[in-house]
Formats: sequence, structure tokens, C-alpha cells
Amino acid sequence: MTVGDSIIEESSHMMATYRRWPVEMVAGSGCRLTDSAGRSYLDFVAGIAVASVGHAHPRVTAAVTEQAARLVHVSNLYVTRPQAELAARLGALTHGMLSFFTNSGAEAVECALKLARKWGKDTAGPHKSRIIATNEGFHGRTLGALAATGQPAKQRPFAPMLAGFTHVDFGDGRALAEVMGDDVAAVLLEPIQGEAGAVVPPEGYLRAARSLCDDWKALLVLDEVQTGIARTGAWFAHQHEGVRPDVMCLAKGLGGGLPIGACLADPGVAATLTAGDHGSTFGGGPVQCAAALAVLETISSEGLVERAAVAGERLMSGLRALPHGGRVRGKGLLIGVAFEHPVAHALAGAALERGLLVNDATPHVMRLVPPLVISDDEIDEALGILEEVFGEIEAA
Ligand SMILES: Cc1ncc(COP(=O)(O)O)c(C=O)c1O
Repeated sequence: MTVGDSIIEESSHMMATYRRWPVEMVAGSGCRLTDSAGRSYLDFVAGIAVASVGHAHPRVTAAVTEQAARLVHVSNLYVTRPQAELAARLGALTHGMLSFFTNSGAEAVECALKLARKWGKDTAGPHKSRIIATNEGFHGRTLGALAATGQPAKQRPFAPMLAGFTHVDFGDGRALAEVMGDDVAAVLLEPIQGEAGAVVPPEGYLRAARSLCDDWKALLVLDEVQTGIARTGAWFAHQHEGVRPDVMCLAKGLGGGLPIGACLADPGVAATLTAGDHGSTFGGGPVQCAAALAVLETISSEGLVERAAVAGERLMSGLRALPHGGRVRGKGLLIGVAFEHPVAHALAGAALERGLLVNDATPHVMRLVPPLVISDDEIDEALGILEEVFGEIEAA
């Protein structure tokens, strides 16, 4: 598990923003990656919940290569068919929401924040601009999304933050009710907190948030960047509670690895943003949109929404049966194991040594987000490796 000196040398020319494992990945197929030394890894990270249909899925590869050979970029000054088709497909999946395409999850959140602020002003006046978000929530690293991210340690070095955000504990409907008011433009929530370590709120929380937003004429904005696109065993995690958001952010699993995100909104809300209000040079480029169309097609034709639910049950019950003393939580294939001690990084390292990729979402939480195409055999193989890893780290 070492990389060549030349890669180390070249990496020194990059800003040191990432703590990386010393492994150079060179190829991927399905749920496996191969490094430069020819070692194979079972991938339960999936590019941080991105490789939804696995690596190098033939349908995605064909869509990307065909589109790249025809047209890669024109900007949003012109229409392209892949973008229009993707918007129509997402509209069909969301009962008519309209899309704005971005290059990342953070940008989808930025669009949602701007939309909410302008909607508040247009519908009620300049006072209606406050955004409620949650402690430990994560919405991205750009300054607007960071202001919404309820993690002071991530915000502090970049203070002052954008004003007008209130944070409350996640999963606590009463706390949410207490901070609502006429000045609230939107409540921004992850249906399940992903980066916080697959934190599932109590049943009824999203319904409570929906009804508070209705009472106070505020938008319910759901950040489904990590939970969306079948990850939790439904196309979108809010469907488990039967609520409908006004605005929804997507990214990660949407492009199967190509950088694409989307901010979707109900038409009446989406109408707030008019020409010149928002934009992106690269957002919704034809290659990314062709990839996303292929991903959505694959999820439908291979029954991956249902598969994520079934595979998630198998993985979670297998994890619960292992001797580790942690708490297993999550939904579908967004799973965390929360430990009392900060052992998650050590566990990820020990798993990597044995050919399994998992990640430490927080120092205390090991996260498992394999591709939705993960097979029963691959799940059992991962459980076998984790059993050894838990034994080793417990003994350490
Ligand atoms: C819920 C959520 N929102 C937003 C983001 C930011 O996405 P990106 O890293 O693509 O900007 C993430 C990334 O982990 C996320 O989990």
C-alpha cells in the first residue's frame, strides 16, 4: 500500500486540503477499485456516495463517450438535448419540479439559498430572509453553504459567516418550532444527516418541519445531495415520510461520478428566479447530463431503488451481528457505525490494508455507502473483513 515517489512529488504541488491514504487508484469496475500496484479493493466509499451504479458501468461509459465525441460544452447560452431531457426526467420523478443544474452539491445549495432569499423578499418583503438549518448538518464548503453548515469548527477559520442563519438541533421538532417566525424564508434540512455520520431523525420529524413551514409560510428546502437518487431505498429520502419539499438539492449519485448537481423547485417557487438572477458556465453540460440520464435509466431498469433497501437491510443486520460495541444506524445504503471512542480513522486504515474501503465520516463514525449495485456476496465479503478489523482495533 504505497504510491510511487513521482506521485508524492507531484502531489506536493497541490494545496494540502485533503488527508489522503497513500494509495493511487488507477481503475474501477462495478464495486471494485484497483491501485497502481495491482491490488483490488472492495469499494464501500463509492467516491463518497457518488458511484451509484458502480464504476465503469457500460451504460454510463457509452453515454459519456458518445456525448464527448459529439459535443462537450456550449455554456448555458444555448439549448442542448441531454440537459433538456434530464430536466424532463427529474421533473417526472418529482411530480413537476423545475431544475437548475450545477457542478456540485454546494452549488445546488447556493442556488437554493438564493432562491429562498429572493422568494422571501418577493412574497413578504425584505425582512423574510432568515434560514433555519441544523447543528452538525453539512451543506458544502462554499461560503453560503458553509454558513448553513452547523459545524462551528468548519466555519471559524473563515469568519465572518454570511448573516441570517439560525441553527437548531437536528431531529427536534419542538426546537424547530421555537425558532420559527415571520422572518423565516426557509428551513434547510438533510432528511438524514450524511457527513454527521448517517444520523436518522425520529419518525415524523420531516412532517413536523413541513407543517411548520406551511404555518409560517416558509420554504422547506431538503438537501438530498447525499440521500437522493435511490441511496436510502427511495428515489428521494423524503418519500419515506410522504412529505413534499418546496426545493430540493441533488448531486453526488446523480452523475455516477461526473460532476453534476441540481437545485429543483416547485414551479411557483422556481419562478422567483428569472433571467440574470443566477447562472453557471459549466452547469448542466451535455456530457454530465448524458451521464446522469444513463444513471437514472440504469437505476430504473436494474431496480436499484428496491435493491438499495434490500441490500441495506442485509448490510445493517450483518453489521449488528458483529462484535464491535458501536451503534449501527442509517437507511438503505447510507449506513454509519457510531463508536464511543474516536476509532473510525483507525478502522478505515485497517480495512484498507485488507482490501476494503470504508470512510470515517467523523472521528467516531465509520460510514458505509457502497454502490447501489452491491451484491449479497460482496456485502458478506465486506462483513468478513470488518469482523477481522473490529477484532484488531479492539485489541489495539
Ligand atoms: C448533504 C450534503 N450537502 C452538500 C454537500 C456538498 O457537496 P459537494 O461536495 O459536491 O459540494 C454534501 C457533501 O458531502 C452533502 O453531503
